[in-house]
Amino acid sequence: MKALRWNGKHRVDVEEVPDPKIEHPSDAIIKVTSTAICGSDLHLYDGVVPTMEYGDILGHEPMGEVIEIGSEVSNLSNLKIGDRVVVPFVIACGHCLFCKSSKFSLCDDSNPNAELPEKLYGASPAGLFGFSHMYGGFAGGQAQYLRVPFADVGPIVIPEHLPDEKVLFLSDIFPTGWMAAENCDIQPGDIVAIWGGGPVGQMAVRSAFILGAGRVIVIDNIEERLEMARKGGAETINFQYDKEDAEGHEANLFDQLKSMTEGHGPHSCIDAVGMEAHGTDPGMIYDWIKMGLRMATDRPNVLRQCIQACRKGGTVSVPGVYAGFLDKIPFGAVFNKGLTLKAGQTHVQKYTQPLLELIDSGKIDPSFVITHMLPLDSAPAAYETFKQKEDGCIKVVLKPWETQTAGKIQDFENVHKPDTPSPPSAANA
Ligand SMILES: NC(=O)c1ccc[n+]([C@@H]2O[C@H](COP(=O)([O-])OP(=O)(O)OC[C@H]3O[C@@H](n4cnc5c(N)ncnc54)[C@H](O)[C@@H]3O)[C@@H](O)[C@H]2O)c1
Ligand SMILES: [Zn+2]
Ligand SMILES: [Zn+2]
Repeated sequence: MKALRWNGKHRVDVEEVPDPKIEHPSDAIIKVTSTAICGSDLHLYDGVVPTMEYGDILGHEPMGEVIEIGSEVSNLSNLKIGDRVVVPFVIACGHCLFCKSSKFSLCDDSNPNAELPEKLYGASPAGLFGFSHMYGGFAGGQAQYLRVPFADVGPIVIPEHLPDEKVLFLSDIFPTGWMAAENCDIQPGDIVAIWGGGPVGQMAVRSAFILGAGRVIVIDNIEERLEMARKGGAETINFQYDKEDAEGHEANLFDQLKSMTEGHGPHSCIDAVGMEAHGTDPGMIYDWIKMGLRMATDRPNVLRQCIQACRKGGTVSVPGVYAGFLDKIPFGAVFNKGLTLKAGQTHVQKYTQPLLELIDSGKIDPSFVITHMLPLDSAPAAYETFKQKEDGCIKVVLKPWETQTAGKIQDFENVHKPDTPSPPSAANA
């Protein structure tokens, strides 16, 4: 089969690899019909996630048709050959202590390489598709076929009348945006600020409104992403530009957020950016230098800003991925403002059924976020376009069995590209 393989920093290739096989009686094999590129894949592409190996197959947002099931699968679930399914990016056993309390991304039994994260984090999270050996080294779904472990727990069967594009994001970004908003414990009318207008931020905007937010403010510096957020009802701030306030004074990001919230700050702040924030303020430059010197794994400037901007007694919700030991986090502000911090990989399996019902009832159509629909063969170019935020690219869906696709399907003016300083040369080593 064809699959997209990680061949080093900023190097991915579509190559012929052996088809996956049933390795355990609870496995299933799916023929992938649609698969997306996630912002998390960019962390792998940029080489900032440890324990990647040359030849690893990427991808964790797949759906397709069940073509083979292990002997145990049909006993435990209703899954059968021919079903159309979406596969959560989280691999979970369904019966451990954590799965039983719906904390699927913390599954105790699905990561065969648990000893690696145990050393780093004290305990291991669940295995993930296509996301480094620290998360189990499972082959990913940017491929023509995918082996799905614990097939009786993960895949959700999709009714025929719903097209791939409407349901594909149940695999990751819709539940992720939803959980990010749910973690904010939104009270009716609350103001939620979201850093990052990428696919996760966009899903968080819609989810926050459905969960009762009165106002949502999105912060980014890519104009078409801000425009997409405005279409979802959000107000926006381009963090690249200070604004003049009513008295003619320069108002930076924090001043603007304060003046938009009667001086108190947002009730909750969502970091939908994660470890590779860009920008040029002093905190960012500091992070670039430390990362470039290999003295830091993450650039946590957005997390700092969320903590700093958040209203007293509020919540900082972190769907953005972080990997290591974060520097200069203003924990004094967390303590003295009595903030709640919530974070983590999404418990996707907890949300697939209720969110499928939201889609089916017409309350939301997550396909609004797709800007590019391309054949799998175009994936290497698509990674670069998505990374550089070029061509109005917000979300790419890949079709592993098609050679002709719609290509670019939404036209946004790319007015501002990220104004990111080049990292110091050590980072390119
Ligand atoms: N928790 C989970 O289970 C989970 C699931 C999916 C994705 N993620 C993570 O969520 C994050 C976002 O994913 P995505 O697919 O939307 O990625 P993306 O790269 O498309 O979007 C990130 C956005 O953040 C913006 N940004 C960068 N620096 C910023 C700054 N200083 N201030 C404000 N905005 C800034 C970028 O311009 C971009 O629009 C990533 O870290 C990804 O790994 C987590
Ligand atoms: Zn993802
Ligand atoms: Zn489990």
